[in-house]
Amino acid sequence: MLDFNDNIYKKLLDLAIKKNILANCREYPSLTLNQNEVSIDFVSNSLNSKFGSENFSCGLYVHFPFCATRCAFCKYYSEISRDNEVFEKFLDALNNEIKLYKVDFRKKEMDNLFFGGGTPTMLSKQQFERYFKIISDNFRLKRNAQISIEGTPETLSLSKLMLFKKLGINRLSIGLQSASNKVLKKIGRRHKFSDVHMAFKRARKAGFKYIGTEVIWGLPGETISSYKRTIENVIKLSPEYLEGYYLTLGGRVKINRYIPKGVIIDDIIKYYRGRLLSNGYRIYSTNNFFGMIKKGVPKRWAINQNTDSLYNYRSEVMGIGPGSSSHFSDHQYYIAANVGRYMDSLKDNKFPVLYGMSRSKDDYKRLFIIMQIGYFRKIEKKRYYQLFGSYLKDDFTEEMTYLLKNKIVKETPYWYEWQLDEKNMGHESFYMHVIKYWYSKKYIEDIVKKYF
Ligand SMILES: C[S@@+](CC[C@H](N)C(=O)[O-])C[C@H]1O[C@@H](n2cnc3c(N)ncnc32)[C@H](O)[C@@H]1O
Ligand code: SF4
Repeated sequence: MLDFNDNIYKKLLDLAIKKNILANCREYPSLTLNQNEVSIDFVSNSLNSKFGSENFSCGLYVHFPFCATRCAFCKYYSEISRDNEVFEKFLDALNNEIKLYKVDFRKKEMDNLFFGGGTPTMLSKQQFERYFKIISDNFRLKRNAQISIEGTPETLSLSKLMLFKKLGINRLSIGLQSASNKVLKKIGRRHKFSDVHMAFKRARKAGFKYIGTEVIWGLPGETISSYKRTIENVIKLSPEYLEGYYLTLGGRVKINRYIPKGVIIDDIIKYYRGRLLSNGYRIYSTNNFFGMIKKGVPKRWAINQNTDSLYNYRSEVMGIGPGSSSHFSDHQYYIAANVGRYMDSLKDNKFPVLYGMSRSKDDYKRLFIIMQIGYFRKIEKKRYYQLFGSYLKDDFTEEMTYLLKNKIVKETPYWYEWQLDEKNMGHESFYMHVIKYWYSKKYIEDIVKKYF
């Protein structure tokens, strides 16, 4: 740390933004930068040993890789399709994917399940039932596990929501982005704000207790008054949790950030926070994104259990479906984001390309630290010790001495608290902090060698 000149750090930050690496803090070291192919045997052996070991447990993420259209701001992998036949073929392939690992996943109970995408809610009811059955035939879940689904408002009919509820899905995330219809049109959303309002109403009627929504700052067409309208409308929707993101750039994102004249995004974020705090919400996450939760709602219902898992001592999450990634304490891998190739290979019972790498204990410690600062701006000393059997200050003496001396971190009897100020929230300066202090020297040298 601090061995490189600022120019190198700036270049690294540019690279991280362009490749969309830091937006999801879970990637350390970055799989995106280290695209090494691994074999199905490597993955299968590792999964067999994990699912065979007594104390192992993990979450399951299933990626549905289709959307009706692509939104200009979206950083996630999906292809455009509305073809039921294609969806059926995808479900066949997914079933084959699970079988090809040759692991008895039902030996263990999974911590949680997340239906992500893409737009899994665009499947018809029959197809969704089949989708769900493929998962429930092959995996078991812990009692009272969180089962989440994310979807677009216009796909959420009452009968579909009732089906989700009947199947045991207990957490729903409805993408809002902005309450301005002008903005929604510009970014290619298929819904108007009134659809979000209706989707919430239907979801409540279907019995959903935990509904969240998402907004993005930096979208084209916003004005100071549209930002204010959005937060007032969010308050009226009364979601159990709200996530706010400063538009991530690069990768699949087709637009640039648009900031209306005279507007400072940090002021808007502060304003949102203030409005929510005075309307019965509390903060659950600060830095790398903005998370607010309704008072009285347990935190476990606000945070995606998959990403929360590292906070609870492990980062273990298994991903299935093209473009999904799997993160374990000692290695990580992802399935190539190419649904055509995915379906073609699996039709012949061959596995699609897997990219992966191992993760050392030092990497895992750094990842834990990055996640903790990203979500909570603080690290509990006891948790660190329980997880790694050593003390943070001993493992990272140079870093911590510097950060404490320069008052970037404050030490209390139980915690290390990061003093990153409001202005740094969610933005490049936070990522710069991660790169400067928490990327290992060797990791930086490797990236520099490969990319600069
Ligand atoms: C997988 S996506 C959306 C799920 C669903 N298909 C939808 O559109 O509502 C989850 C959320 O990520 C956020 N997101 C997507 N691209 C983003 C970007 N470039 N920057 C910041 N947030 C982004 C959006 O708020 C989106 O609702
Ligand atoms: S934001 Fe949602 S609907 Fe839009 S392209 Fe991304 S995953 Fe699909």
